[in-house]
Amino acid sequence: MAYAAGVDVGSTQTKAVIINEDKQIVARALTETGANVIRAAENAFQEALRSGDLREEEVEYVIGTGYGRYKVTFGNAQVTEISCHGRGAVHMFPATRTVVDMGGQDTKAISVSPEGEIVDFCMNDKCAAGTGRFLGAASKALDIPLDQLGPTALSGERAVQISTTCTVFAESEVLSWLGKGKKIEDILLGVHRSIATRSAGLLRRVGVEEEVTFTGGVAKNLAMIETINERLGLKVNVSDDSHFMGALGAALFGLDHILASRAPVLATQDGS
Ligand SMILES: Nc1ncnc2c1ncn2[C@@H]1O[C@H](COP(=O)(O)OP(=O)(O)OP(=O)(O)O)[C@@H](O)[C@H]1O
Ligand SMILES: [Mg+2]
Repeated sequence: MAYAAGVDVGSTQTKAVIINEDKQIVARALTETGANVIRAAENAFQEALRSGDLREEEVEYVIGTGYGRYKVTFGNAQVTEISCHGRGAVHMFPATRTVVDMGGQDTKAISVSPEGEIVDFCMNDKCAAGTGRFLGAASKALDIPLDQLGPTALSGERAVQISTTCTVFAESEVLSWLGKGKKIEDILLGVHRSIATRSAGLLRRVGVEEEVTFTGGVAKNLAMIETINERLGLKVNVSDDSHFMGALGAALFGLDHILASRAPVLATQDGS
């Protein structure tokens, strides 16, 4: 049995996935990217090997993706994260035509063909107001851990209107609402709605065609799923492995390489 791996070195977190020849995930690992990007890639891969009880030699092909893909020094090749998130999403949800990847820094809208090829994509360029960075700013301002933002927002009833269009001012706007006596949950519901509105705008630029699959770490946030559904008027696909979708796509490209490089089975001499 051959194995392939994908290592997605994101701006915030590094994800590694190992798959078998049946395209099943046999191991995964997640680490903070931090300042030492090469080390983060190595750590995530080694941790995945350990959790899958595999030796490095058993993994025949490794593909690096994400912003730090060229720092996967042990990798055999690199593929862009747009292609990898598209590939992973279509593998997990075959009817996917649109992908929204929300990570720590960027939000990407990707349009894929029925065959799973990238048709178009769009990224928040200078403005981070529709991204995970905005959530990071809110988390800091309110002193609430990232994984508690969604659950807190879900108990909000009267969302405040977030007017800031720039992450740099998000923290002060959140604090000013707090100073005006607004409840934390209502402020957070407002923050999620504002991010969802921006992401929906980005998605409309590539065209929102069903099914829509939500990938990236922010897909772990239930309030983000709910507010995006509200804004798009549909239900996005989310999997427990949404955070690993880019790494999964990279591993699938790696498996393609392994299978393509195998010598064709020769017919026996008597033609049987
Ligand atoms: N359990 C969780 N609950 C809520 N949010 C989470 C959770 N885990 C991660 N996140 C969010 O996901 C972000 C990281 O996502 P991801 O790993 O997809 O980003 P990245 O690939 O490093 O960034 P980018 O793609 O922008 O370069 C975190 O910054 C955080 O906002
Ligand atoms: Mg990413």
